[in-house]
Amino acid sequence: MINDVLKLFNQTFGANATICSQAPGRLEILGNHTDYNEGFVLSTAVDCYTFIAIKEIPGDTCKVISPEIEKEIRTFSLNQIADHAESQDWLNYIKGTVKEFQKRGMQVPAFEAAILSTVPLSAGMSSSASLEIALLQRLHEVLDLEKDINEMARIGQGCENNFIGANTGLMDQFSSLAGQKDSFVLSEYRNLTVKAVPVPKNISLVVFNSGVKHDLSQEYNERRLQCEESVKILKQFYPDIQSLRDINLQQLEAQIINFPEEVYRRALHVVGENDRVHKALNCLEQKDVEGFAELLFDSHKSSIDNFENSCQELDFLVNIAQSSSLCYGARISGGGFGGISIHLVESHRAEDYQQFVQSTFKNHYGFTPDSFICQSAQGAYSEKLVELV
Ligand code: GLA
Repeated sequence: MINDVLKLFNQTFGANATICSQAPGRLEILGNHTDYNEGFVLSTAVDCYTFIAIKEIPGDTCKVISPEIEKEIRTFSLNQIADHAESQDWLNYIKGTVKEFQKRGMQVPAFEAAILSTVPLSAGMSSSASLEIALLQRLHEVLDLEKDINEMARIGQGCENNFIGANTGLMDQFSSLAGQKDSFVLSEYRNLTVKAVPVPKNISLVVFNSGVKHDLSQEYNERRLQCEESVKILKQFYPDIQSLRDINLQQLEAQIINFPEEVYRRALHVVGENDRVHKALNCLEQKDVEGFAELLFDSHKSSIDNFENSCQELDFLVNIAQSSSLCYGARISGGGFGGISIHLVESHRAEDYQQFVQSTFKNHYGFTPDSFICQSAQGAYSEKLVELV
């Protein structure tokens, strides 16, 4: 793929790129909607990547080609990037990332860029974060900035929050940056710390795309506000808390009568997810794959009952997992309201399981869901072409 993107660059712009940078997609394993509540997430970078080949050019017009999305070269002026995205457009992720640098007082030079990606688009595997991270790594090098993982993640998040209008947390960017081969990424979002946790041996993640498009700028933002509302309620009884991360299940249950019913269920999901991440770490330490996988089913149930961010198609996929002896556990992954489910299976049975689920789903819904067999992979990195030769 690196060679393909370099070739694309050369054919499009008639010169060689000076650098190629790449960043992976991610899967959320446990810890749903916990990141913006300062909580805990178990996620992984996966072996599909966005590649970007770049060359700085004089002037102030950037030129970008991403032929998998659009055949034509797109251009934009560095001096005329609006404050917010004006319409839905893939170029917004480039503009929004550049804008974050400009807001920090950095002079981003004009560039030509060619993009190719193996991260499925709009599938809940954070193709957008992988694009932001691939680009911002390169800009860090051009601007000679220290590569601080927290700041890099914040720039990607800033693009989503400020430019796109999705108030997402930091998990997508963190996972894309910090992934390690054969490891899950355990991250926590108060102090922004991250740790690698070994994936059980011979395990694969099979991803199925429900085909239901998820738009994270509406319901997602509403859920986030409900989480903030629950913190306000809880603060009356536990004045020292700062976020849902500071509350355990017993403390929450003790205040149930003080909550509007729906807001309580939102908080229960987040507090429950933090709890499940900790239980999962114990299971992984004890090599208890079944116990670990059961937590995935519990998490999905909580998405249905409490956070209401699943949909019929995702529930159907998780039901298949529950009735199949080939699968350990499954759940929604990422923001939800559509998107993907992840299924934990033994690697040597992954293909059989994939075919079984695809045909069962097709019999019911009339189409074959996109599916990918994924492994945990190395996070983002960028290599100077001269070192690649
Ligand atoms: C999306 C967001 C993340 C996170 C998940 C839900 O992927 O981008 O920040 O909140 O949803 O866990």
